Amino acid sequence: MSTAPVIQVTGLRKRYGSIVAVDDVSFDVQDGEIFGLIGPNGAGKTTTMECVEGVRQPDAGRITVLGLDPIRDVYALQHRVGVQLQEAHLQKRIKVSEAIALWASLYRTSVDPRLLLEQLGLEDKRNAWFMTLSGGQKQRLFIALALINDPEVVFLDELTTGLDPQARRAIWDLVRGIRARGKTIFLTTHLMEEAERLCDRVAIIDHGRIVDIHSPAGLIRRHCPQRSVLLTTDDESAEARLRALENVAVTRADDGVLTVQGNAADLMTGVIQCLADHRIRVTDFQTVVPTLEDVFLKVTGHTIRE
Ligand SMILES: Nc1ncnc2c1ncn2[C@@H]1O[C@H](COP(=O)(O)OP(=O)(O)O)[C@@H](O)[C@H]1O
Ligand SMILES: [Mg+2]
Repeated sequence: MSTAPVIQVTGLRKRYGSIVAVDDVSFDVQDGEIFGLIGPNGAGKTTTMECVEGVRQPDAGRITVLGLDPIRDVYALQHRVGVQLQEAHLQKRIKVSEAIALWASLYRTSVDPRLLLEQLGLEDKRNAWFMTLSGGQKQRLFIALALINDPEVVFLDELTTGLDPQARRAIWDLVRGIRARGKTIFLTTHLMEEAERLCDRVAIIDHGRIVDIHSPAGLIRRHCPQRSVLLTTDDESAEARLRALENVAVTRADDGVLTVQGNAADLMTGVIQCLADHRIRVTDFQTVVPTLEDVFLKVTGHTIRE
């Protein structure tokens, strides 16, 4: 069974003066998934998201959210979507509970504020001023505000930027919890680890163009099918024995560590079989699996940080 996509973007274009920020971008976000638009700073993620939110007018292309037009149907949509706030939009001395009440007042329906603060681990901060919250607590508040109207779709732009790894993990768990309650999440990130751990599917965007779309594991299979085994052994014959395997490349580092590279499907079995057959004694054995970061380098020709 397939349902209509929650978000559908076709041929989206947006330029600022002479800069083409988003160039012929198309993708679908399905019901109940965490979909990530991933790419380096300046790639066009925020511009794309703002067009989908209806706060920016595209130059060309077609966008639907829950079957509606983000600009024409803005009032109908605002009750059904949740948008993460940016820091600059909240007063320093507003209390957490006041911000929640203020946001709740903007909508026809709202969830129980107490329950929401409890879900986001902010119940003991309800009387704290916004400016006294840590980075992670502020982000949790922004998520709370995005969820106040019990939306069907949630937009999160660079949700964990500037957070330490522990706060980041806590936020990932929260986002998974939102999905578990049946919501659809559209997020952007320039953090490949975040995308790999959190997203069901990702679209890689670079210089305003979509490079590929798939699950993180699917992208790795498609673009980086190679696996490596790093092993250490005192056996002088090992290198030659491993070289005799079909379709593998063997290199030896200065410290003696052997790297055996080959295709995921047969590499492990081949190496293990070879070691066993020749009774090669190994003191260290490590498999290296490519990441989304490797995929990004492969498909764009540059690293995400360049
Ligand atoms: N309001 C704006 N005016 C002019 N240029 C902009 C504006 N917003 C973004 N840009 C430019 O558009 C490109 C894409 O930006 P953005 O969508 O913010 O990318 P990302 O969110 O991936 O970092 C960048 O080159 C950026 O400098
Ligand atoms: Mg951005």
